[in-house]
Amino acid sequence: MKATEILMSEHRVIERVITSLEAGAARLENGAAIEPAFFLDAADFIKGFADGCHHHKEEGVLFKTMVDYGMPSNSGPVGMMLMEHEQGREFTRGMRAAAQKLKDGDASARAAVIQNARGYAALLRQHIQKEDGILFPMADRIIPQPMHESVIDGFERVEHEETGEGVHEKYLALAERLAAEVK
Ligand SMILES: [Fe+2]
Repeated sequence: MKATEILMSEHRVIERVITSLEAGAARLENGAAIEPAFFLDAADFIKGFADGCHHHKEEGVLFKTMVDYGMPSNSGPVGMMLMEHEQGREFTRGMRAAAQKLKDGDASARAAVIQNARGYAALLRQHIQKEDGILFPMADRIIPQPMHESVIDGFERVEHEETGEGVHEKYLALAERLAAEVK
């Protein structure tokens, strides 16, 4: 398996949560049943999986290797991806803060929950498309074949050392639960 295929399969899990998040935002807007905790759980998924496991593999391993092989780090496609990761973090912080207020009884926070949830979903959908369609094929080309194994080793290190054993599985289960809540 290619290193980028591992990241692409994680993109499919993130997209599943984005779809749930859009459904949750629509429910909140229409006054249908949805708990503020749904958005807090989604923020936990994003922080732990999308931004934890997944973005650490990209930022700390794949992008870093691309930079080693000549890509600029603060401009061009890698710089753009890093900037979008940061924008995603801002939407997630905004969604978490608003969902917490809503949970505490402040109904005026509803609009901010919807706005940040939709902002994150729209950002990540196009971000993932760019990574899958442009950046990853570029990584496959510029990183020499023998280095791909060490990129995969780097991913495994992120998974086991930074995020911990069993954490990946915990977030896959959370993605399933979020989907079930808005079915
Ligand atoms: Fe990604």
